[in-house]
Amino acid sequence: MSDPATDAAPTPFGNYQYEIYLQGLAGELPEHPISWDELERAAAGALDPGARGYVFGGAGREDTQRENLEALRRHRIVPRMLRDVATRDLRTTVLGTAMPAPLLLAPVGVQSIIHPDGELAVARAAAALGVPMVASTASSFTLEEIAEAGGGAAAPRWFQLYWPKSDDLAESFVARAEAAGYGAIVVTLDTPLLAWRPRDLAQAYLPFLKSVGIANYLADPVFRAALERSPEEDPQGAVGHFVGQFSNPSATWAGVDRLRALTDLPLVLKGINHPDDAREALARGVDGVIVSNHGGRQVDGAVGAIDALPRVVDAVGDELTVLFDSGIRSGADIMKALALGADAALLGRPYLWGLALGGETGVRAVLRAMLGELDLTLALSGHATPATVDGSALTQRP
Ligand code: FNR
Repeated sequence: MSDPATDAAPTPFGNYQYEIYLQGLAGELPEHPISWDELERAAAGALDPGARGYVFGGAGREDTQRENLEALRRHRIVPRMLRDVATRDLRTTVLGTAMPAPLLLAPVGVQSIIHPDGELAVARAAAALGVPMVASTASSFTLEEIAEAGGGAAAPRWFQLYWPKSDDLAESFVARAEAAGYGAIVVTLDTPLLAWRPRDLAQAYLPFLKSVGIANYLADPVFRAALERSPEEDPQGAVGHFVGQFSNPSATWAGVDRLRALTDLPLVLKGINHPDDAREALARGVDGVIVSNHGGRQVDGAVGAIDALPRVVDAVGDELTVLFDSGIRSGADIMKALALGADAALLGRPYLWGLALGGETGVRAVLRAMLGELDLTLALSGHATPATVDGSALTQRP
């Protein structure tokens, strides 16, 4: 297993292409599509209609979901020449977590609807490459099972908290994540309510109501203590309690102070788009923010996430770690996020395509391709390390 904290040498991700060409000499072709668009189409075809709508859908008319990609396309890389990119090093450390490249896996819930091994497969694939996985509160397996599948403390991983109504339950989740060796707490702020999602509504599809994606709740001592009968005796009663607890629409910034007091782990707020919210986060003593619109799944009509990034970086970039997700579809997209000031990017839907097609090996193939493409894009643009990438690496499409 790769351990980026102790690996003596950086991983030459770009060499993945030679492995593919060499296998071609032996008559072997890649198992899954290499083109990102073909991979996406193949994954869509592999899922049942409910899961397909859940993974591929967004809020409202999916205008923001499209805008995330379009806004990234408007930024264009301006390659630089003759800058010695023979030896490259993509390694970085974010909030104390060492990683082989500035890339993490975004938290995605209820992954067993995509593949029976769900988050366990993703944890194994991420650990094999040393890429940190952010495990969702709404996972199909418990956070302890995910940590174990990913090789325990040997691999980096963070925990994403959906902030429940009960502070005691929040405290229990955080304590469990600490005990299981998670290295940071990511609090997702953009989901105080579930958005209007037409694809899910059209199929009346919400897996949580069938006890899928609530493993962390069902296993939690505080959650269980609040039930009259155990989830095993009364599954629907447990689902009802989950529905009442899942999110907290009355949450305010004062709650961030309580969360801050709960843990010494780095605290990261996900779903920040406005510079004033970023400043508020800084004032409340958090360690980082993730500029994200949840992949266009919450506020349809919201600004493309990459267009929100520079203003947040201007506001707090010198003092807080700033991460980015929503729309990353290629190595070039990751480079663009770095150039606009992100310390690292989070990959969302593309790793789910790999999961849908091949479980652990599918996710591993996606990660190797994404990191290989990032390595080559950086190198061919004149960067042997992400550290030299800044705003001067980009221009806007006229
Ligand atoms: C998500 N996302 C998400 N975020 C979170 O904080 N907790 C969660 O449980 C989930 N679940 C989830 C399920 C599915 C199917 C998707 C597609 C997304 C949002 C995720 O972390 C990330 O913000 C987006 O995926 C980024 O958008 P793109 O790049 O995937 O389009």
